Amino acid sequence: MTAYPHTPVLLQAILDALPERPERIIDGTLGAGGHSTALLAHCAEASLIGFDVDDDALQIARPRLSVYGDRAHVENLSYQEMTRIAATRGWDGVDFILLDLGVSSMQVDRAERGFSFAKDGPLDMRFDQNAPVLTAADYVNRFDADDLADIFFEYGEERFSRRIARAIVRNRPFYTTAALADVVAGAVPRNKQGRIHPATRVFQALRIVVNEELNRLTQTLPAMIDLLRAGGRLAIISFHSLEDRQVKQCFRHASTEVKSPPGMMLQERSAVVKLITRKPITATPAEIAANPRSRSAKLRIVEKL
Ligand SMILES: C[S@@+](CC[C@H](N)C(=O)[O-])C[C@H]1O[C@@H](n2cnc3c(N)ncnc32)[C@H](O)[C@@H]1O
Repeated sequence: MTAYPHTPVLLQAILDALPERPERIIDGTLGAGGHSTALLAHCAEASLIGFDVDDDALQIARPRLSVYGDRAHVENLSYQEMTRIAATRGWDGVDFILLDLGVSSMQVDRAERGFSFAKDGPLDMRFDQNAPVLTAADYVNRFDADDLADIFFEYGEERFSRRIARAIVRNRPFYTTAALADVVAGAVPRNKQGRIHPATRVFQALRIVVNEELNRLTQTLPAMIDLLRAGGRLAIISFHSLEDRQVKQCFRHASTEVKSPPGMMLQERSAVVKLITRKPITATPAEIAANPRSRSAKLRIVEKL
């Protein structure tokens, strides 16, 4: 059996989340194709469109999915394009959409991608290495201390954001992940350093801004719900509270009917989905032991009415 560099998280929960006899599936974050290959193996009648912006991921996913012939179609595009691409294939509605957000093991493990402070590499952090966007190095070397502090606070929920930002500005330029991680660690008071590496939240914040992760998610959530056929399901795995909060709020909004009480002028609306998960599904202790990356995974599912 081939060993793949990324183990899909909450895989059984994803298979359990499928509606009956799905025909059209979209995997918005293909990665190494772990979820997609399992979905295609499980659903004999289904075709799948998979999206990823990372060439490295697609080099692994494409040959893996090729065994499914024309049941699998791969796009080197952002999941933001899913409605347009589905339409080009004559799909006006979809039975199952999966997003498995965040960074893959391949991305973290390859030092040259610049996601890891444990493996020294260039400060890049772009999911799409061809995208003409600012890299993590551009942010830390060009932004002023106030803007950096705002980024670390907003996207990393880092309470020492101002101290860290000032230390970065004093010590820059930075070219590598390890050099940045050292300065961040030095800026966080020793007695306030917890179990996780003190640079974890700063690295998360930089990755989120470099890839515009939250904007992309918020913009696309309503479109994904629209794209579902009646009875179709949207399943989203997130890995940090900022993402999970957005998913939770969108799902709550879409599942809530608003009726205006007599005498009030509330904008009425019907629910368009029902919540399949009131609380997010998380990994079992056995899965966490086998795959520590699953520790912070949260899965939320809705079904189109
Ligand atoms: C956690 S991995 C997915 C792993 C996959 N489920 C598997 O089983 O192998 C997340 C993937 O999403 C990709 N990604 C991030 N933002 C994206 C976007 N806007 N559109 C498409 N893919 C994206 C990343 O490049 C990464 O490969």
